[in-house]
Amino acid sequence: MSMQLRAMNEGDLDSAFALTQQMKWPHRRADWQQALQLGEGVVAVENGRVTGTALCWRWGNDYATLGLVMVDGAAQGRGIGRQLMLAVLDKLSGSHIRLHATEAGKGLYEKLGFVASGNVEQHQCRQLAAIAGWPLAADQRLRRGQPEDAPLLTALDHQAHGQYRPQLIAGLLASDQPVLVLEQGEHPAGFACLRRFGHGYAIGPIIAQDLSQAKLLVSQLLSGLSGQFVRIDTDAASGLGEWLTTLGLAEVDAPTIMYKGTPWQPAAGGMRVFGLMTQAMA
Ligand SMILES: CC(C)(COP(=O)(O)OP(=O)(O)OC[C@H]1O[C@@H](n2cnc3c(N)ncnc32)[C@H](O)[C@@H]1OP(=O)(O)O)[C@@H](O)C(=O)NCCC(=O)NCCS
Repeated sequence: MSMQLRAMNEGDLDSAFALTQQMKWPHRRADWQQALQLGEGVVAVENGRVTGTALCWRWGNDYATLGLVMVDGAAQGRGIGRQLMLAVLDKLSGSHIRLHATEAGKGLYEKLGFVASGNVEQHQCRQLAAIAGWPLAADQRLRRGQPEDAPLLTALDHQAHGQYRPQLIAGLLASDQPVLVLEQGEHPAGFACLRRFGHGYAIGPIIAQDLSQAKLLVSQLLSGLSGQFVRIDTDAASGLGEWLTTLGLAEVDAPTIMYKGTPWQPAAGGMRVFGLMTQAMA
């Protein structure tokens, strides 16, 4: 059976969505659409049918992420995953690349030069209990982000993980869900985004200077989500996960963070990542 690779386009979204359903991944068709709009992808096609996908996101000149790598169960083990990976890696030469590996994907990524660098924890709950937003300190102020905040939030996001994502941030600010901005004294101290994703809501990106500011932002967003499905993906090293568990957001998965290139080192005292956009877009 001859297999061809070609660029992914909007016409492939139904097939891609069907593949994630087969994998029991939670993505809605709208989540796929957003992922493709912000990035680019390659599909494997056999007899006119899409049997595999791999996507990547170039976030500026230096850092990129890669994800939504999957091959139809009936077509696995025939080299399609490897070819999809080589095709997306070709688009990213010169970038430091981050991905989050399932157990199934880890072996393939290692063979392609990716090195493990910790874990991401996926925390979620089906029906969030009532949670109170943390009170603000005297010098703190919370406000809803506006479209004109895009350059500021893009800069904070970049400081935290080296990814330059103006389109993503502008899209989040334009959506009907809130982006919460924390100010401390005269300075921005972080932000957190509420989004519709998968089975309900996701919170992320979560960017802040320290853990208590991240918790403040998250608690404020969670206070409006009682009874809802909520998901947060956070680096295990961030320290947020343990607190999320106490709020009823159990850890349900812990994919391996892998890099090809050099992991970003945030400046001391600067912004840090406490929650991902998604595992694929990081
Ligand atoms: C991961 C996945 C995309 C691989 O696709 P595939 O078409 O089956 O993979 P390939 O046939 O191209 O095999 C790729 C290589 O990885 C190797 N490999 C696969 N699984 C491995 C494992 N668990 N340990 C070590 N090596 C492994 C294969 O031997 C092969 O090596 P080779 O090219 O040197 O022979 C596929 O299994 C899949 O869709 N899994 C479910 C979704 C998923 O978990 N995706 C990864 C998200 S991070």
